[in-house]
Amino acid sequence: MKALILSGGKGTRLRPLTFTTAKQLIPVANKPILGYVLDQTSQAGIEDTAIIIAHETGEYVKDYVKDGSAWRIRVTYIPQEPLGLAHAVKTAKNFLKDEPFVMCLGDNLLGEGIKKLVEKFKKEKLDALILLKEVENPTAFGVAVLDDKGNVVKLIEKPKQPPSNLALVGVYIFSPRIHDAIDKIKPSWRNELEITDAIQELINMGCKVKSEILKSWWLDTGKKDDILTANSIVLDEYVKNEIHGSLDKKSKVTGRVKIDIGTVVINSIIRGPVVIGKNSHIENSFIGPYTSIGDDTKIIDSSIEHCVILNNAEVREIERLEDSLIGKEVKVSKNHNSHKALRLMIGDYSEIEV
Ligand code: TTP
Repeated sequence: MKALILSGGKGTRLRPLTFTTAKQLIPVANKPILGYVLDQTSQAGIEDTAIIIAHETGEYVKDYVKDGSAWRIRVTYIPQEPLGLAHAVKTAKNFLKDEPFVMCLGDNLLGEGIKKLVEKFKKEKLDALILLKEVENPTAFGVAVLDDKGNVVKLIEKPKQPPSNLALVGVYIFSPRIHDAIDKIKPSWRNELEITDAIQELINMGCKVKSEILKSWWLDTGKKDDILTANSIVLDEYVKNEIHGSLDKKSKVTGRVKIDIGTVVINSIIRGPVVIGKNSHIENSFIGPYTSIGDDTKIIDSSIEHCVILNNAEVREIERLEDSLIGKEVKVSKNHNSHKALRLMIGDYSEIEV
């Protein structure tokens, strides 16, 4: 069994952050999302892994994953034009050869591992096993229709009248027959080779396509609020009390808080779950629940809650910063002018609510 991780794409919904990084590398609880995905495939015992990368952001992905030894896997990088998930499989055909493989989206997080899924695929000798999740808004997803034995009989991409509430989560296991199915499909209206069309083709070819319904949470981190939600859930589940930095006597930490080495906290309150990276400086501030702060940041005279703040950012004299995603090297500070003008220097595609 091989793994194919999709870490290409355009990432338009996360601009401007995706001008200087890949969206799969945006950190959740201070660890890139792609890191969690690789944890799951390696925990399922899969070593031979290919990562699909985009020309614009591929170097950032390589720089993070390197040769994969941190996950005890072997990594091959495959550049791809973002022409659809099935197009990514087609592009990786030389790597996949005639072996079965797990395909995961590099920006999706699951609350449980995929080991059992891999075992089921092998035991039942399937051609495709897809992971589904009950959702409230099926019109926004690819949706599956099952028969009473759990076979997938039909897939519909973003249906106007959904036949079920079972959405396709970004985890699939395929036998090599998927390549024959992909050879038969045509690009969709958005000019992409859709994996839902390829799976539908597998069903039409009479192949065994089954599904598993995910019980735990699933998060697609394509937009800012999704990242904040993922950050809250991961902080809630994984953060333990670990204080490696230094706190002065006037500072107070409550709840589960992780502070990395070299970070200094002066006259501040930190209410977990919170993670703070290395060599950061927190002074005269309140850091509220569900906040992740990266390395080398400065938070001075400010109050922050439910935020993700990346490395080298600086927040000064901000009375209340909430529900925000702050990129690397960003400076947010108070304007001391008597008139209430805003003074901004903001990258293209930024979003500001005042
Ligand atoms: P999407 O989030 O659907 O696509 P995108 O990255 O182009 O995002 P946006 O809509 O914001 O522009 O892609 C899901 C995952 O699959 C994501 O990790 C990127 C990856 N992907 C590829 O690797 N190749 C592709 O051709 C496509 C469409 C996506």
